[in-house]
Amino acid sequence: MRRQIVAGNWKMNNDLTETESLITDLKKQSRSSEAEVMVAPTFTNLWHAYEALRLSDIEVIAQNMHFAESGAYTGEVSASMLLSVGIQTVILGHSERRAYFKETDEMLAKKVDAALKNNMTVIFCFGEELNDRKSGNHENIVESQIKNALFHLDEQVWSSIVLAYEPVWAIGTGETASPEQAQDMHAFIRKTLNDKYGSKVAESTSILYGGSVKPGNAAEIFSKPDVDGGLIGGAALKAEDFFAIVNAI
Ligand code: PGA
Repeated sequence: MRRQIVAGNWKMNNDLTETESLITDLKKQSRSSEAEVMVAPTFTNLWHAYEALRLSDIEVIAQNMHFAESGAYTGEVSASMLLSVGIQTVILGHSERRAYFKETDEMLAKKVDAALKNNMTVIFCFGEELNDRKSGNHENIVESQIKNALFHLDEQVWSSIVLAYEPVWAIGTGETASPEQAQDMHAFIRKTLNDKYGSKVAESTSILYGGSVKPGNAAEIFSKPDVDGGLIGGAALKAEDFFAIVNAI
């Protein structure tokens, strides 16, 4: 059985007071799905969120980390720092990190290695831009993003990797990949994994979809056989909407 996960990426939203109130609202939501639920507050609120949710079934995860253990990297946060405040899962390679902070496949490979070395779980994001989709190059782009950052890994560490396909043109735009487009790409990703690692890794790796998932479209997207959950941005900032998505699995 693959893990089913709904993760909320809060991005650079919510100060401490807002984080407290969103967590209070999250705790009030009732849950009718077995999916694992995760939320990713900003670095400054991780410890507070971890403490506030430690007795709940919501895991607190990080949005990013640096590949070095420590040192002269002003403004950065390491895996061991995350672990020291209870965080065991990290999102890496989000398209906003790639676009605005120039994170490359090479850098991401190093971040993945650092997270795995520290026994963390990685939610690894990738996805094509609109012009790639229009020119029919989307599968090549996705394949190269996965290969360049992840295909140096040994088979046994794949149990600590979750993939998140996020077409850049669907993030924060209100435009969602159709359930068929998501399914086609997820099946392609699974085939790519199968070609490299064989069926055990391909069948056991969870592949989340991200990009304008909302309460109204979640159930249809999640009903596709190769979609194992979602990475949610905007709709994760309202507890009711987020749990409507969680419960759509
Ligand atoms: P969105 O963001 O749901 O607001 O489109 C998704 C993401 O960036 O993970």
